[in-house]
Amino acid sequence: MKNFVSVDDVYDINPLVEQALKFKTDPFASKSLGIGKRLGLLFLNPSLRTRLSTQIAASNLGMESIVFNVDKDGWALEFAEGAVMNGTTVEHIKDAAPVLGQYFDILCVRTFPTLQNREEDYSERIINQFIKYAGVPIVSLESATLHPLQSLADIITIKESVMQIPASESAGVKIVLSWAPHVKALPQCVANSFAQWVGAWGEAEFVITHPKGYELNDAFTANARIIHNQEEALANADFVYVKNWSAYKDYGKIISNDADWMMTNQKIAITNNAKIMHCLPVRRNVELSDEILDGNNSLVTQQAGNRVWAAQAVLNEILKSK
Ligand code: CP
Repeated sequence: MKNFVSVDDVYDINPLVEQALKFKTDPFASKSLGIGKRLGLLFLNPSLRTRLSTQIAASNLGMESIVFNVDKDGWALEFAEGAVMNGTTVEHIKDAAPVLGQYFDILCVRTFPTLQNREEDYSERIINQFIKYAGVPIVSLESATLHPLQSLADIITIKESVMQIPASESAGVKIVLSWAPHVKALPQCVANSFAQWVGAWGEAEFVITHPKGYELNDAFTANARIIHNQEEALANADFVYVKNWSAYKDYGKIISNDADWMMTNQKIAITNNAKIMHCLPVRRNVELSDEILDGNNSLVTQQAGNRVWAAQAVLNEILKSK
């Protein structure tokens, strides 16, 4: 594996999931692989889970990791080709990325979308410029349109749950991605990425439900059935992934915020006793009710825990390829 910025960087999802689950049972199985290697974690935006889980993963592999909060501590970066830098930006990515490539063996980057300029966000110009100029493998810690480490952890979590179901009952698993209300306009990254990974994984029936106007970019949803009636979508679901996203068509906008779309125990009564997922952080009693998050069917803590094994499996692959 050279870079990890989308599911397209993964040759086969199942062996990566199996490797992650092996690390979960034996975290230090490859504790010498990363000795003498340094991981850089660059944050242009905040994080709790991604930052800490990736550092733990690196430590389990014997790597040193250094976090740099570019948004707070770094020079303001310029990404435009040919920019006349007489404004607020101080350093061009063409100059900064090769320097970072000298310091680190692998570079991880978190960079959120603007939600103002769809063309620019969907070109992934920031993470692609790190790939172009750093000269070392790049791992996405969430980019303008995708969150692949989250999606890998999500598939790991689903696989773990499915493995606990008797084989006779585990055929025909149904996963539903359900839009939820939120107070802020959020990126489409988690939803895009989850749709992309579940589609590529191909081991489940996949339904996406959202109010009209919240259609995702169909480049990511080719393998999903879109059902606008949430109740119909939820029927017989085994997994319900709840997530807000802002509009793709009317880019970055909250076009409706119907509180009736919040996931509650009453809603999931028509599912197949579905397990409930969310990437966190979550707005309690806006996206999901307390009763669900605090209930036995919630996988959210397990999902966040699995971020370590997802990151470790990816770093392991990259280190083995170097
Ligand atoms: N789910 C996730 O990426 O969490 P953080 O934003 O806290 O890293």
